[in-house]
Amino acid sequence: MATSMTEAPTAAAHPVDLLSKFDPIIQTRETLLAAGVEDPFNLVMEQVLSPTRAICNGRDTILLGTYNYMGMTFDPDVIAAGKQAMEEFGAGTTGSRVLNGTFRDHRDVETALREFYDMDHAMVFSTGYQANLGIISTLAGKGDYIILDIDSHASIWDGCAMGNAEVVPFKHNDVDALEKRLKRIPEGAGKLVVLEGVYSMMGDVAPLKEMVRVCKENGAMVLVDEAHSMGFIGEHGRGVAEEQGVLDDVDFIIGTFSKSVGTVGGFCVSNHPKFEVMRLVCRPYVFTAALPPAVMASSATSIRKLMHGSNKRQHLWENSRTLHKGLRDLGFELGTETPQSAIIAVIMPDLEKGAMMWEALLKEGLYVNLARPPATPAGMTLLRCSLCAEHTAEQVQTILGMFERAGKAIGII
Ligand SMILES: Cc1ncc(COP(=O)(O)O)c(C=O)c1O
Repeated sequence: MATSMTEAPTAAAHPVDLLSKFDPIIQTRETLLAAGVEDPFNLVMEQVLSPTRAICNGRDTILLGTYNYMGMTFDPDVIAAGKQAMEEFGAGTTGSRVLNGTFRDHRDVETALREFYDMDHAMVFSTGYQANLGIISTLAGKGDYIILDIDSHASIWDGCAMGNAEVVPFKHNDVDALEKRLKRIPEGAGKLVVLEGVYSMMGDVAPLKEMVRVCKENGAMVLVDEAHSMGFIGEHGRGVAEEQGVLDDVDFIIGTFSKSVGTVGGFCVSNHPKFEVMRLVCRPYVFTAALPPAVMASSATSIRKLMHGSNKRQHLWENSRTLHKGLRDLGFELGTETPQSAIIAVIMPDLEKGAMMWEALLKEGLYVNLARPPATPAGMTLLRCSLCAEHTAEQVQTILGMFERAGKAIGII
């Protein structure tokens, strides 16, 4: 019905501010910064000197909070391969993998992954986040069930949210809880169990041997995210599934190039005979641009070098053992009883103390990750240390000295 010109105009409606739900986060951040600490989530690496050193916020800093586990970012062959591909193929692909975005090096990196894992199929995504998003949401649809560890990475949860399967979480690393959940799922339903090799917040390893057995006994397919174990754990660096002897029983391995490989990208490898259909039906693979050829060439070179990285793996284990023992001896509370991976989580009493400790370490010349909920389990604040195969034994001792001074100054030890 038309409104008469003489009717009073209605007052402009005030829009609901969609950002107001974030007010508590804004408040927490302002309180933290008002206390005078440097912003832990706004660090700038002005210059990167090596896999273990950078100029951060103007200071020469030892890096103990990157995922550069095998130190491949400055490997001369990795850099040379990227430079050459950039010269030959240009800066970017400007297209999807299924249209104009598959170049020689996308094919080559998938060949390198098949060689690395000794598996039949490999599919490369633009990030590991997208690999989880795509593979999980595409595999498990309406009427299927996803059974996952409650401490799973955000990309796994988001993959569940994107699909329409029923989502059934179980207590972290609890084999009995997994088995109970599996037994309650209706007969004949599709079941995908999603596990991680190394859990990235606490640095603990999953009991994959028992879990994979329980999955097989109950007719479930298994996907293991080996983001934090590829290149380091297992005889050939294939991850925790290799280390625990169950790689052949895992249906899908997810991984990333943003950690041990030292570049960016994500992937899924599998021996499933129908796996190639995923290239046509997986939306986060189809509806996004393929990675630049330089990244692919660097990644392929890095993956092939990681196949011969056993000396580096041994040195990284030594670093992990030394740092874990040293921090424990100093009196810090750690995320694991024993060193289980290249990640050592130091548990902080609260966010305020955690931020103060983070800043004290930065002033000493050490960068670690300050991690807090929702990334961390059980509302914990953590200082996450992630070691690199290129950290020298002397650097690890220097790091321990820095932790001791900062911990005493803040009153944590
Ligand atoms: C377990 C796990 N899966 C997947 C990812 C995502 O990897 P990307 O950085 O390649 O997106 C991460 C990243 O931290 C991770 O920890």
